[in-house]
Amino acid sequence: MTAAPSPLRSAAPPGPRAASDDAYVSIEGIARRYPAPGGAETTVFENLWLRLRRSEFVCMIGHSGCGKTTVLNILAGLEAPSAGVAIAAGREITGPSLDRAVIFQGHALLPWRTVLGNVAYAVASRWRRAGRAEVEARARAAIATVGLAGAEHKRPAELSGGMKQRVGIARALAIAPKMLLMDEPFSALDALTRGTLQDEVRRICVETGQTVFMITHDVDEAIYLADRIVLMTNGPGAQVAEIVENPLPAIRDRSALHHAPGYYAVRNHLIDFLVTRSRTFRADAPADHDPRHPPVVRPTLSDADAAALAARRARPL
Ligand SMILES: Nc1ncnc2c1ncn2[C@@H]1O[C@H](COP(=O)(O)OP(=O)(O)OP(=O)(O)O)[C@@H](O)[C@H]1O
Ligand SMILES: [Mg+2]
Repeated sequence: MTAAPSPLRSAAPPGPRAASDDAYVSIEGIARRYPAPGGAETTVFENLWLRLRRSEFVCMIGHSGCGKTTVLNILAGLEAPSAGVAIAAGREITGPSLDRAVIFQGHALLPWRTVLGNVAYAVASRWRRAGRAEVEARARAAIATVGLAGAEHKRPAELSGGMKQRVGIARALAIAPKMLLMDEPFSALDALTRGTLQDEVRRICVETGQTVFMITHDVDEAIYLADRIVLMTNGPGAQVAEIVENPLPAIRDRSALHHAPGYYAVRNHLIDFLVTRSRTFRADAPADHDPRHPPVVRPTLSDADAAALAARRARPL
């Protein structure tokens, strides 16, 4: 079966791969299997290979059930792979670490603690010898970073969804992790709060040089935040189909995003993948597809599409 021709030229030559010394995370041939009825097994994904460079922001997109949260949990050390290994900073991940903070969709705050108490709890577990004043100062600084100064003494029940999510982000940032793992962290928020938090998280990550792995279903969010976007095929037996290099500059202006060169090409490419290729990839994968080195693509619009887009833009409304 042949896929519908893509309106895009996927710049096929593979981009430079991370040299071993600049890969902070290396996922090496991992699989996740669960027992299925009748003694059989279901393979959610298998032979997954992925490297994350230090300080890069990587988003993963793919349909529900392909195993994105499972991959994130493996990186967090909350789950073990059924095969393969995941390595961070040169060591196999065998359990949770304060070097890798997780921001959950459901914020997971301690309901009986205040905002300050929730963040301070994480700070105290990171710096066990720190005095009370230092713990509080660090916690307050993180709370201020996410714009919650003044709400330190509120409890989670008194906060909006957006505020709770900010506390979750503050708690993760407060322990100065080397890596942030985020599972659809903004999906439950209204558009305005989501935009503000995306801006804050990207700014903080760029400033601190954290390595970020984030799952999202939102194509525009991935383009706004990520340096590279990992495309997962549908499960069971999901694979990394390809890795899209985002052509957008490091400093991003939300209001001018849609004018940035390459924006429409990458957006069309991601949507085309989610609508069609995530389903058909396995049947249509090129014979030389190597799961160990998923192709790196830099989508560009075809000349015909670029001309059509320019003509549409030139037309008076
Ligand atoms: N404990 C379990 N036992 C059996 N199957 C499981 C278990 N946990 C997860 N799965 C299955 O693993 C698959 C991947 O789950 P996962 O939560 O990683 O998907 P996801 O890509 O994050 O989906 P979503 O986009 O909906 O969050 C799903 O099909 C799920 O049913
Ligand atoms: Mg999930």
